Amino acid sequence: MSPVPLEESIFMAVHWRAPGRVNLIGEHTDYNDGFVLPFALEMGCTATVEIRPDAAVEARSAQRDDGASVALDDLAPGTAGWTGYALGAAWALRQRGHEVPGLTILLDSDVPVGAGLSSSAALVCSVTTALDDLLDLHLSPDELLAVSRSVENDFVGAPTGGMDQLAALRCTAGSALFCDMRSLATEQVPFSLGDHTILVVDTRAEHSHADGEYRRRREGCEEAVRRLGVQALRDIDLDGLDAALAQLDDEELRRYVRHVVTEDDRVLKTVQALHASDLAAVGPLLSASHASMRDDFRITAPEVDLAADTLEASGADGARMTGGGFGGCVIGLLPADRVAGAETAVRNAFAAAGFGEPATFTVLPSRGAHRVDG
Ligand code: GLA
Repeated sequence: MSPVPLEESIFMAVHWRAPGRVNLIGEHTDYNDGFVLPFALEMGCTATVEIRPDAAVEARSAQRDDGASVALDDLAPGTAGWTGYALGAAWALRQRGHEVPGLTILLDSDVPVGAGLSSSAALVCSVTTALDDLLDLHLSPDELLAVSRSVENDFVGAPTGGMDQLAALRCTAGSALFCDMRSLATEQVPFSLGDHTILVVDTRAEHSHADGEYRRRREGCEEAVRRLGVQALRDIDLDGLDAALAQLDDEELRRYVRHVVTEDDRVLKTVQALHASDLAAVGPLLSASHASMRDDFRITAPEVDLAADTLEASGADGARMTGGGFGGCVIGLLPADRVAGAETAVRNAFAAAGFGEPATFTVLPSRGAHRVDG
């Protein structure tokens, strides 16, 4: 095949899709250098990116009426709203010394926003992978991750911990992605559900990192690290937990430490169970994780607790909130023949409690970011 002439190639669009994620287990462990086990959803964001002749970056979305167009030299951290996640990719690449031309970025996403399914990481990673391809940057997997994280942490200013971008970039179909967030070493752990299903309940309860609760948990963990004289909470294992708790006189910090240390342990046990194809062992770990988020880390919400309890009462082997918390989605691991009954039970329970109607859907471990045909 003859190469595409330059004058045509510079206006050629590329299309990349990056998925949202469910975190099977390992919540608020990523910024504590700990362990996480997310898997990618089929839902995702597709970015269509092309070079434009002027020195501006324009972001538009098929789901939104608003958009933004900013001169490359005027891109500055602190850009609020969804456009920041798209424009920030150009900024983060320039920060690292890459030449970035004028760009048009068109987004099309089916990841529910604000549901704890990482719609923002899907957006960011669809754009960073598209730019890597379009501009022939050949970024290494670690560089791509660093650029994607920088968009969220440095440009948008959200103090998130990196799991979501990692999941969007590196998950593979049929597996959950086990990651050590200190070394960033990853392992694809086969996650075959057999006669079971993962049911997601989107409670549609308000969820926001911006309200400061996420930041407060993060700062609390950092304070505990200082007082305990460790590098990160990851450095405390289950055997050392009691001694660590005895050193803290602040009850809130004690609860945070207990959650993170026990959650890391639950991730490791879940990975072991999946390796042993012992799905029966996974359910109780999910439920214990939920209890820890509810009672110790205190990041659940009434809607979320009701969804988890109702799933369990409807035959789930285990259920837990997934994502940053304060609302959003609950996942249940349950026999496929119990799904319809569980969906009805959750809907009825929400109506009886006076909560808005939740959405329910089943999910399968899907692939990470990939190029799609135009
Ligand atoms: C959000 C953040 C992640 C992680 C989770 C909680 O999704 O983006 O980095 O901290 O919350 O596990």
